[in-house]
Amino acid sequence: MDKLVIRGGNPLLGTVRVSGAKNAALPAMAAAILTDEPIILENIPQVRDIETTRKLLAEMGAEVELGYGRAHHRTTISCRNLASPEASYELVKTMRASTLVLGPLVARCGRARVSLPGGCAIGARPIDLHIKGLERLGAEITQEHGYVEARAERLRGAEIVFDKITVTGTEDLLMAATLAEGETVMQNCAREPEVTDLADLLNKMGARIEGAGSPTIRVQGVSKLHGARHRIIPDRIEAATFILAGALTGGDLNVAGCDPNHLGALLQKLREVGVKTAHTAESVRVIGDGELRAADVMTEEYPGFPTDVQAQYMALATQAEGTSVITENIFENRFMHALELVRMGANIRIEGSRAVVRGKTPLSAAAVLASDLRASASLVLAALVADGETIIDRVYHIDRGYEHIEEKLRGVGAQIRRIGEMLPKRAAGGR
Ligand code: EPZ
Repeated sequence: MDKLVIRGGNPLLGTVRVSGAKNAALPAMAAAILTDEPIILENIPQVRDIETTRKLLAEMGAEVELGYGRAHHRTTISCRNLASPEASYELVKTMRASTLVLGPLVARCGRARVSLPGGCAIGARPIDLHIKGLERLGAEITQEHGYVEARAERLRGAEIVFDKITVTGTEDLLMAATLAEGETVMQNCAREPEVTDLADLLNKMGARIEGAGSPTIRVQGVSKLHGARHRIIPDRIEAATFILAGALTGGDLNVAGCDPNHLGALLQKLREVGVKTAHTAESVRVIGDGELRAADVMTEEYPGFPTDVQAQYMALATQAEGTSVITENIFENRFMHALELVRMGANIRIEGSRAVVRGKTPLSAAAVLASDLRASASLVLAALVADGETIIDRVYHIDRGYEHIEEKLRGVGAQIRRIGEMLPKRAAGGR
């Protein structure tokens, strides 16, 4: 397994470019299931979860071209022949977002067999709301041997009120509703930009969706959807990660190719912390030349402070003067990074869903372990300001959602390199 080796102390200077949003690309790729015509998606990030989704669609019988080059990060997906509307445990266990194929498969093929994702490092993460919503649309659902089986001659439009706000639950049912008979009204929907981006793609495919980005979404079902071309929105979580890295290292970093309108909660928080930022329509410049002041954070659904930025913010809080109380309201177990930050010298106390961070404490390099995607990012940020050389193990987590992170950070002055697992001599020599 690869490791990242980071020597702290360099301020980040210059321009770093943001990739397409993983969490917009995944539902967009699943949307290709809804039509027998090709879907072309541009600005696809070169990350592990995209490759997993390519495999998932190919296993069903889709033709998926995926090309990364200077000119484009593009995928063309044709789901003309979907032989087996299934998502196997082997793939779903590596990426729970595979559940996003459930709604499209039932809507297009009339049946689906998708492995239950099981829990993950940050929490139980059930999909009960996806299932309840599909039943409201008339699907018959059974669960056995760890799989969800769903069947429906044709889905019928319905009123759906989500018990809790769920991002992929909203996306899954939005896709299913596009081919249902009649009108579907979904309330208490997620308002994330990735939901709106999916609705934009679906409307380009001939769907009739109104209200995406608001709590209530109306869908007039149609009998068929057609092919389309769509450019994926920039990754707001990657952008937030780099903005925090610029602030933390006391640098002068221009984060280009992002959408500042998606970063309101973070930018407001950074003003409280005393970090200067300036933005254009598609970039944020962060100048971290002053003292950092402690500020509390509570994660909320969009447009509140994103849970996917909580771990990265905690790394910053260890370097702020004073006490920052970070409350995680979305997931029940999303503080694993705190234990690793403490090993590097941070002063953090966990009290249920709150983490109390006392700064400023110098951080010293250590061998640390990444546990999930955003926890890994938090450790990278801490390593950028730690004294010495930090080694982060299990970086496959970070490769799931960050494209070429070491190249991007090295490009703005970080001392970071990737090392492959050193095989023991005999194994390498075959003796
Ligand atoms: C999406 O996950 C993102 N993933 C996550 O990003 C993100 O952390 C999360 O939304 C919250 O913003 C993708 O978009 C692929 P939820 P999702 O359903 O949809 C509970 C990353 O780092 N819930 O909005 O799985 C759930 O347990 C990843 O890129 C139910 O109870 O999250 C959680 O407490 C990590 N029943 C809350 O709702 C359900 O049926 C929000 O989860 C569904 C969810």
